[in-house]
Amino acid sequence: MIRVNNANIESFVAPNYAETLLPELNTAQGHLQNGTGAGNDFIGWVNLPRDYDKDEYARIKAAAAKIQGDSQALVVIGIGGSYLGARGVIECLCSPNYNLKKKNTPNIYFAGNGLSADAMHEIEELLEGVDFSINVISKSGTTTEPAVAFRFFRELAEKKYGKEGAAKRIYATTDAHKGALKNLADENGYETFVVPDDIGGRYSVLTAVGLLPITVAGVDIDALMGGAAEMMETCTKADYAINPAWQYAAGRTALYRAGYKIEVLAAYEPCFRFMSEWWKQLYGESEGKENKGLFPASVEFTADLHSMGQYIQQGERHLFESVVRFGPSKNEMKVPFDAADGDGLNFLVGKDMDFIARQAMDGTLLAHVEGGVPNVIVEAGVNDAATLGQLIYFFEYACGLSGYMLNVNPFDQPGVEAYKKNMFALLGKPGYEALREELLAKLG
Ligand code: PA5
Repeated sequence: MIRVNNANIESFVAPNYAETLLPELNTAQGHLQNGTGAGNDFIGWVNLPRDYDKDEYARIKAAAAKIQGDSQALVVIGIGGSYLGARGVIECLCSPNYNLKKKNTPNIYFAGNGLSADAMHEIEELLEGVDFSINVISKSGTTTEPAVAFRFFRELAEKKYGKEGAAKRIYATTDAHKGALKNLADENGYETFVVPDDIGGRYSVLTAVGLLPITVAGVDIDALMGGAAEMMETCTKADYAINPAWQYAAGRTALYRAGYKIEVLAAYEPCFRFMSEWWKQLYGESEGKENKGLFPASVEFTADLHSMGQYIQQGERHLFESVVRFGPSKNEMKVPFDAADGDGLNFLVGKDMDFIARQAMDGTLLAHVEGGVPNVIVEAGVNDAATLGQLIYFFEYACGLSGYMLNVNPFDQPGVEAYKKNMFALLGKPGYEALREELLAKLG
């Protein structure tokens, strides 16, 4: 079970901060459990690990088995909440080198998460001579990046397999009833999966949005959902002593109020990089509004101790770290003997890498705290599907609590629209003529 250790923030925050925050935690808990807060039409994720659609879940497994059987590659098209969770889980559990590994599951290529022609072209090249399927994920179906990418890959699939053949290899995850992608899927006979109405993109990794690609990669989704369900049980309890989401939300809220405006999520596993990206979207979109909110950043240790470590140790004192610790590792790696001992490291011979990493973690913790950086520890345990399910739910729940304690709606993202409007105007989309003139004048 996830454990939060706030001991290393105590000298940086108000005394008795947890006790002081209890009334706010209770109110936020009530909002999440009873749907009494802002954005309450988007809290379907709260009970999702128990109340998910079991028939669709079985269809996800069947579709994944079909893709595993008839495809050497799966192109997953989506952006933001329709992208980061699946990539985070796959990289964390199957490795960032998943596509390079010997395996009996398809390679997975993520597309539609940007507008780079070269990145798209590269995936097309990688698909040459390869049987592939497509999972296009978009609630609206009109988000520019995935919609454009889908045009390219649908065309590629239709050229290779014909319209009907391609239709059997295209899986659309979208709104249950409406929208451009739903219409297209129905017209062409693509199998569809649902982005539930009451779950926003950044809270959707445990729906079909994340589960289909994750299952194709061979992850045990029963264990993933089981872990999330366990954490859901724990988070349901309004009890600071046993609820890690309460402890984390209280710690980071107290730090924010004490003037720490940046939260740096740190992990010592390179495979966690895209989970950090997922976490950044979750917290950034949920809290960053009304001129408020912690800025979520991330680092990968120990690699970044040799780059960002300098700033963290001695730069401006406006940040704190939240460190996700996994362990023990699945593999024992003992340091080999070297007769020459040119690097002077023979004192480590026979020591396991886990032992060395743990000393690095503790040494870094002490140095950073000494340097004025408060430190929250999130002890996760072994990096496996059950742990990751727990961690996902834990972060989601703590995010909902924190957003309510910040007095914002944690489930909307009005600011995301600003760039879209300008982009459409500059691209000449009908209906945006006046804005286009205004922007062109500003650009000179
Ligand atoms: O969190 C969100 O709501 C966003 O990141 C969306 O998931 C993202 O913009 C993609 O939207 P859509 O699924 O409609 O293509």
